[in-house]
Amino acid sequence: MLTPPPLDFTTPRFLDFSDFDPMSWHRRKQIYLLGFMGSGKTTIGELLSRELQWPFIDLDAVIEAGQGVSIREIFERSGEPFFRQLERAALTEVLKTEPAVIALGGGTFAFEPNVDLIRETGGATIWLDCSVETLQRRCANMQNRPLFGDPESLQRLLDLRLPYYRLAEFRVSTEGREPMQVAEQILRLRAF
Ligand code: S3P
Repeated sequence: MLTPPPLDFTTPRFLDFSDFDPMSWHRRKQIYLLGFMGSGKTTIGELLSRELQWPFIDLDAVIEAGQGVSIREIFERSGEPFFRQLERAALTEVLKTEPAVIALGGGTFAFEPNVDLIRETGGATIWLDCSVETLQRRCANMQNRPLFGDPESLQRLLDLRLPYYRLAEFRVSTEGREPMQVAEQILRLRAF
């Protein structure tokens, strides 16, 4: 009678998980950068795009290109609710692109339907966080930001948005750091 060979428990033959990375196995190759105006989404997005060799998409730029006018003009002519409709439509198109580094607008991830839409993609959501003082300083120099008024209104808007920003999977501080340092930290997350 034939006897089976002795079982060898030391050499895994069928289940080899050595290359298995639980953080990235279900991932789509997409990075969504979110955070307040002036948090560095575009600058850091461009660096990540260069390092990863993935296309960079700036949601605001997509909206402007589609309308042929600046964001400020869209706000002035048609108001914020109309801008949010355009933003939603642009987002729906943009999230079909893979691979991609996508810089959202400061308000994109502060609307629940957008949050759901983005999370369903399986891309990595990264909140670029920094202090309100830094945001105020950076926003003070921006001309094309219709929602920025005085420091108090910035603080109020930020307070409303923080609960949404906290829904991002990753939070990366940009405070006092060079954009390349931030990009390198994001690349080390191994989240995509
Ligand atoms: C907005 C931020 C802007 C732009 C629009 C509205 C916001 O994008 O989408 O002015 O609601 O915070 P940035 O965050 O790229 O400045």
